[in-house]
Formats: sequence, C-alpha cells, structure tokens
Amino acid sequence: MQPDAASLASGEQAGGRAAPGEPTQQAGGPRIVAPEALGVADAVALAALEGACFPDAWDASAFAAALARPHVRAYGIRDGDHLAAYGVFHFLGDEFEVINIAVDPARRGQRLGSRLFGHVLQQADKAGMLQGHLEVRAGNEPAKRLYLRHGFAVVGVRKRYYPDTGEDALVMRRTAGQGASANI
Ligand SMILES: CC(C)(COP(=O)(O)OP(=O)(O)OC[C@H]1O[C@@H](n2cnc3c(N)ncnc32)[C@H](O)[C@@H]1OP(=O)(O)O)[C@@H](O)C(=O)NCCC(=O)NCCS
Repeated sequence: MQPDAASLASGEQAGGRAAPGEPTQQAGGPRIVAPEALGVADAVALAALEGACFPDAWDASAFAAALARPHVRAYGIRDGDHLAAYGVFHFLGDEFEVINIAVDPARRGQRLGSRLFGHVLQQADKAGMLQGHLEVRAGNEPAKRLYLRHGFAVVGVRKRYYPDTGEDALVMRRTAGQGASANI
C-alpha cells in the first residue's frame, strides 16, 4: 500500500455462499457474515479496526470524509457486530486501486482477506474496471500472496518507497477477469 496507510471471494466457509449481509457460518463458532459494502455509518468501526492494524491509522472523521466521496469504495466482513476485515478502494473510470485491506489480527490466516478481496474483484469486474493497481511492501508476504492468488502480478518496484523503514514497494497490476473467483 501507500506510505501513509490511510491515504488513501467468497467461499470456503461451511454452508457455502451467502448473499451480502447474510450469515454463512453459525454453529460452533463466531457468526461470519458475507462481504458487504460499507458506508459512512461504518466510519467508527473502520477506524477501530484500522487502528488495530496500522500505526498511522485514519480516525473516524477521516473515514467518514473519504467514504462520502463517490469514487471511494469500502467493503467489509463482520463477525456478528464486530468488523473483522475491511478494504478501501478507488474506483475511477475503468481502473481501480487498492488503497488498503486488512484483517483483525486475531482473525488472520482464516481466509477472510481472500474472501473479501475476491468479492471486491467481482464488484470491480461487474463495474467494468479493466485494470487494478496496488502497492505493497516488498516484505509483506501474506499480502503479496493474497494479491498473487487473485490475479495480480508484479510490474515494477519503487525503491525505498516507504519512509518509515526504507522498504521497497512492489507495484502490482491485474487485468479484468483474472483471478476473480468467488471460491478462492
Ligand atoms: C494481508 C492480510 C489482509 C491477509 O488476510 P488474511 O485473512 O490473513 O489472509 P488469508 O487467510 O485470506 O490468506 C491469503 C494468502 O496469504 C497467505 N498467508 C496468510 N497468512 C500468511 C503468513 N503469515 N505468512 C505467509 N503467507 C500467509 C495465505 O496462505 C494465502 O495464500 P494462498 O491463497 O496462496 O494460500 C492480513 O494478513 C493483514 O491484515 N495484514 C496486515 C495488514 C496488511 O499488511 N494489509 C496489506 C496492505 S498492502
């Protein structure tokens, strides 16, 4: 992602796919809800989750202001009333950009990120987005695997892009229709 974290699939759950907002898993575990679009009303929850994931998190007013802009899209997965995963994207013309995606630290490695990202790529394809772009820290293995799994490829490197660590950014791109399976 970008140096300022704030600057801004679905499928493998027991019980199969559900419509956005409908529960997909109940018995014996936390209630998981299918990926859904988020809005200004979710700004407080987004800020709380981002604060748990990034040191330079946006506050709720920053999320509210961003989400009031027509080209900014946010999607999330709730675990009951708790926001467990979110992603923020720009949908502009026929291209989209991944601004950020993150999963509650306690819920990582459970394919919530994959499920959410797959859903967003389906939305991007439906909206006619021809290209997707993102930047990721070169050492962020989980994020790189997530993006590669969903059809992104590394197309460039921005040397020492992140001022906090001096880490390189990998520039990744996806062409429409690649790796957008709902069942990844
Ligand atoms: C990146 C992130 C969103 C992935 O979400 P997640 O729900 O934990 O990931 P998933 O369980 O869906 O797994 C996605 C892929 O990452 C891999 N992965 C997950 N955790 C991993 C780890 N600790 N090390 C290496 N790979 C890992 C999975 O194996 C999977 O790859 P595969 O499909 O090839 O098997 C999550 O780790 C996160 O919130 N990280 C911190 C915030 C961040 O860095 N966001 C990205 C900014 S660019």
